[in-house]
Amino acid sequence: MVNATPRLSFLALTLVGFLESNRFINVGATAIHPQIPSVASFIDADGPGFVLSASTQVIVDSKFQDSGAPSLLNYAQTFREDLVALTGFNSVPEVKTGSIGDSGAIFMTLGATNHTYFSGVATDEGYDFEISAQSYIIKGSGAIGAWWGTRSLLQQVVMNSVASHGSIAIPAGSGSDTPGWEVRGFMLDAARHWFELPFLADLCIYASFFKLQSFHLHASDNIWDQNFISGPDWRDLYSAFRFQPSAGSPITGLVQLPNETYSRVDFANLQATCAAHGVTIVPEVDNPGHSLAFSKWRPELALPGAPDSLNLSYPDTIPTIKAVWDEILPWFTSAEVSIGADEYDASLANDYISFVNEMADYIAGQSGKSIRVWGTYEPSDTMSISRNVTIQHWDFPGDSIPVQLMEQGYRVINSEQAFLYLDGKTSDAGQFPVELDQSLMWGGAPGGGGWAPNIFTQDDPSNNTNPQNPLLRGSIMALWNDWGNNATTPLEIYYQLARSLAVFSEKTWAGSGVRDTALTQDQFDSIYETLNAAAPSQNLNRAVPPQRNNIIFEYPTITEPQATAFDSVGPPYTLTFTIKPSNASQISVPLLDGASMLVPFDGGVIFAGNDSKLHVSSLSFEDPSTQLWYPLPYTLPPDVYTTVEIHATRNYTYALIEGEVYWWMTNLDIWGEYMKLANMSFAAPSHFIGAEGFNGELRNISLVLGS
Ligand SMILES: *[C@@H]1O[C@H](CO)[C@@H](O)[C@H](O)[C@H]1NC(C)=O
Ligand SMILES: *[C@@H]1O[C@H](CO)[C@@H](O)[C@H](O)[C@H]1NC(C)=O
Ligand SMILES: *[C@@H]1O[C@H](CO)[C@@H](O)[C@H](O)[C@H]1NC(C)=O
Ligand SMILES: *[C@@H]1O[C@H](CO)[C@@H](O)[C@H](O)[C@H]1NC(C)=O
Ligand SMILES: *[C@@H]1O[C@H](CO)[C@@H](O)[C@H](O)[C@H]1NC(C)=O
Ligand SMILES: *[C@@H]1O[C@H](CO)[C@@H](O)[C@H](O)[C@H]1NC(C)=O
Ligand SMILES: *[C@@H]1O[C@H](CO)[C@@H](O)[C@H](O)[C@H]1NC(C)=O
Ligand SMILES: *[C@@H]1O[C@H](CO)[C@@H](O)[C@H](O)[C@H]1NC(C)=O
Ligand SMILES: *[C@@H]1O[C@H](CO)[C@@H](O)[C@H](O)[C@H]1NC(C)=O
Ligand SMILES: *[C@@H]1O[C@H](CO)[C@@H](O)[C@H](O)[C@H]1NC(C)=O
Ligand SMILES: *[C@@H]1O[C@H](CO)[C@@H](O)[C@H](O)[C@H]1NC(C)=O
Repeated sequence: MVNATPRLSFLALTLVGFLESNRFINVGATAIHPQIPSVASFIDADGPGFVLSASTQVIVDSKFQDSGAPSLLNYAQTFREDLVALTGFNSVPEVKTGSIGDSGAIFMTLGATNHTYFSGVATDEGYDFEISAQSYIIKGSGAIGAWWGTRSLLQQVVMNSVASHGSIAIPAGSGSDTPGWEVRGFMLDAARHWFELPFLADLCIYASFFKLQSFHLHASDNIWDQNFISGPDWRDLYSAFRFQPSAGSPITGLVQLPNETYSRVDFANLQATCAAHGVTIVPEVDNPGHSLAFSKWRPELALPGAPDSLNLSYPDTIPTIKAVWDEILPWFTSAEVSIGADEYDASLANDYISFVNEMADYIAGQSGKSIRVWGTYEPSDTMSISRNVTIQHWDFPGDSIPVQLMEQGYRVINSEQAFLYLDGKTSDAGQFPVELDQSLMWGGAPGGGGWAPNIFTQDDPSNNTNPQNPLLRGSIMALWNDWGNNATTPLEIYYQLARSLAVFSEKTWAGSGVRDTALTQDQFDSIYETLNAAAPSQNLNRAVPPQRNNIIFEYPTITEPQATAFDSVGPPYTLTFTIKPSNASQISVPLLDGASMLVPFDGGVIFAGNDSKLHVSSLSFEDPSTQLWYPLPYTLPPDVYTTVEIHATRNYTYALIEGEVYWWMTNLDIWGEYMKLANMSFAAPSHFIGAEGFNGELRNISLVLGS
């Protein structure tokens, strides 16, 4: 066995020189540094600030240790782990319970009062904090508020250690902070693209660093391609339902790809990891549109000629959807679920509305949970959707007008696509940006103050509302995967989300033009990279500790499969090797009983890692999570040495071979209307060299950071 990739401590990166000199620089009275999202208010105090060291004790007020779910104590324990991960201070003691007064302590308690969202509604997400030489006190209005207070502390640790070249002294003063809105989340289309749970858990942990509180998981859908949907081959179009029913369940037939589902136990672990970081998973099963997986199971439920849409007046349709929720409702810890309900035939509005209302009552009756639906234009003179249902607006002005919905008493979440939609890798004809559009987020909205959850359009201010509107619950940004599994690796999805989630967090926490302490774009730009690199307890960047001359590894030759200490190394990198593959047509593979057998030889795997493998065969990169291969239009000649230089950034990967450049690409099927070539970015497969049946010679191998 080999060690996992050494975990990256942010301070280990920035403080190498400083810690060796082992002295702290005294910081006088000065404001805390800007952070993401911005802190609502902070007043400096004279005198020395709080100095964090490897012996800093985290103390939880014993009066409140069990308050909240997770409890204040549980949050404190997760915070301590983050603090260790971020600073590399392995000797930070285990969390104690006690009372305030110990010096050198981070003290977490409850009792902060007067914390309200912009609507004036009280929230337990607020916190006050007080920083002095003796202690850093975080007082939440609820346990979750104290947790967000620990995110601020961590960000101050990062920003202060950078600014003062290593001392971790946080300036004295006191502050108070509250989010503007209750719903601050992101949606991932995990239906048209399969993602493994550890990746989703890492996204929660990353989003939590920026105080986002919900992760909306779009868990059933199909690729949209009219050629299939209106033709005889509709069963061949990709669709998925991601929750693996229990053995013998009546809904088993809904799962056509059992290898791409989450088990209840594994999903419970995901929810627990996210919850430990203050993030709630809000699951979505999308009906009656986007329902091809249902029609593949029960074709009689479909509307004739539109198998992606269910016929709601067919007697068995709603009972079937209820049976699906019966199976999965007990899985979920959130107080709300989404039944999707978007893009359904507007001429069937009454069917649609009664379906939504019936499901709202049913799900409330079965589980006590309330529901969300996507905003959909379903005009009816006789019926209306229950005010108990939250409408997640996404399409202005195509679906119902959000300000009008709020006038009618509906609670609304803003997911307006003009600001908040992304599509995996690329969108049709540039409809959506690769990351949230920074110029829109900071300045494009009316008044130039930038986007915020109360902004639905740039065009007509009467269509926007004010931040105080109590019916505006907040906002969810969305990343769709319209082109399916072969459009992106999971890490490419993270690259699109990384900065997007950070700017979105500022805008949903502080709004635009509400607080004078809100970040400016310049402030955001100047701190984002640092905070991204420091975000603890996940390593979606696949960063590695600093290496001499940026060399991760170098081997003049290997004679047998070689394990390294690096699971996977994120781009940019350059991976170079000279290879002489064997020209065998068959190879001998050892069997467990000591015998061996001959199997067709495809050349084996040159490099393997957690996020990618490189095969000899057509120098194909494989994404181990989807098991898809991305070949080069190139074949290595057998029995001679060829030198291959692979260059990768977050935007592309190419090989330089004997002066020729070859790009690893995918070919996206855009709505079945046209094909579009796109580059692929792969992390370096750095864990094993010459593994999995490789037969040949490898020389002059090196992996170097930088492309
Ligand atoms: C809470 O706010 C009210 C109204 O602004 C104020 O009168 C009261 O003193 C505040 N309480 C605390 C504990 O700050
Ligand atoms: C939906 O099902 C009902 C009941 O079977 C049927 O009467 C109706 O024609 C179906 N709708 C369509 C559009 O086929
Ligand atoms: C909303 O839900 C409450 C309780 O769950 C229920 O009593 C009420 O009838 C519902 N209102 C509507 C308009 O459906
Ligand atoms: C909002 O926009 C729509 C469509 O652009 C328009 O019809 C409507 O009158 C606008 N204003 C309000 C207050 O709804
Ligand atoms: C590989 O070896 C076989 C004989 O074992 C030979 O016929 C074939 O041409 C060789 N292929 C290449 C590409 O050199
Ligand atoms: C890499 O994969 C191994 C085995 O699947 C796993 O134990 C390890 O945690 C992974 N490392 C990272 C950094 O994800
Ligand atoms: C799941 O199985 C299907 C059908 O065998 C296959 O096409 C797909 O690649 C598999 N998915 C993964 C993630 O392995
Ligand atoms: C990737 O491409 C975008 C433009 O699409 C560019 O802004 C960005 O700098 C590129 N990033 C890298 C790492 O090359
Ligand atoms: C990617 O998947 C689509 C189907 O969604 C398919 O049409 C296309 O050929 C695939 N591209 C590659 C490079 O395999
Ligand atoms: C791949 O990236 C390179 C470098 O940015 C660019 O020149 C090329 O157009 C890209 N290819 C595709 C298919 O987008
Ligand atoms: C490996 O690199 C050395 C030094 O550049 C060179 O002499 C040698 O020929 C290379 N080996 C191969 C197999 O290309």
